[in-house]
Amino acid sequence: MKRSAMIAGWIVFSSVAWAGANSTHSLRGDVALDAPSVTTSPKAWYDGEGKINRNYAQQPPLVPHDIEGLTIDQDGNACLSCHNWNSEMPGATRVGISHFLNRDNEALANISPRRYFCTQCHVPQKDTKPLVTNMFKSLAED
Ligand code: HEC
Ligand code: HEC
Repeated sequence: MKRSAMIAGWIVFSSVAWAGANSTHSLRGDVALDAPSVTTSPKAWYDGEGKINRNYAQQPPLVPHDIEGLTIDQDGNACLSCHNWNSEMPGATRVGISHFLNRDNEALANISPRRYFCTQCHVPQKDTKPLVTNMFKSLAED
C-alpha cells in the first residue's frame, strides 16, 4: 500500500473512532433509523413562576413566560405591548435605556433596530436535560 493511502486510511479510521466515542444522542433518542420513532410529549414552558436569576452581569434576562403566538415582524412587536417604556402591564420589566441606543450611543425615541428582535437575545426556558453536557457554572447565588 502506498504511504499516502495508508495515511488517508488512518485519518478515516480515527475520525470514525472519534465520532463513535463522542457521539451525541439526537432528540430522536436511541432508535434505529429504520424503526418508527417513539412518541414524545413536549415539555412545558417555564411560566409564571417569577423572574429567573441572571447568571452574570451582562446577561440578557431569560424569558420567564411562554411566548408562543407572540410575533415580531415588520408590522409590529408583540413583546413591546407589555415591555415598552410606556406599557401599562403590571409586573412586566420595562426595557432599559440600553435598548434605545444606536451603535453611536445616541438615544432614539423608539427601540433601536438592533434591539428589535427580542428573541435574538432573550429566550424562554423549558426544564430539560442538556443534549451536550458542559461545565458552565452560574455566578448567581441560588
Ligand atoms: C402580556 C404581557 C407580556 C408580553 C406580550 C410579553 N411579556 Fe415578557 N414579561 C411579562 C411579565 C408580566 C413579566 C414578569 C414575570 C414575572 O415576574 O414572573 C415578564 C418578564 C419578561 C422578562 C424577564 C425580565 C427580568 O427582569 O428578568 C423578559 C426577558 C421578557 N419578559 C421578555 C419578553 C419577550 C422577548 C416577549 C416577546 C416575545 C415578551 N416578554 C412578551 C409580560 C409580557
Ligand atoms: C442584542 C441583544 C438584545 C436584544 C435584541 C434585546 N435585548 Fe433586552 N436586554 C439585553 C441585555 C444584554 C440586557 C441586560 C442589560 C440591559 O439592561 O441592557 C437586557 C435587558 C432587558 C430587560 C430588563 C431590563 C431591566 O432594567 O432589568 C428587558 C425587560 C428586556 N431586555 C426586554 C427586551 C425586549 C422586549 C426586546 C425586544 C424589543 C429586547 N429586550 C431586545 C439584550 C437584548
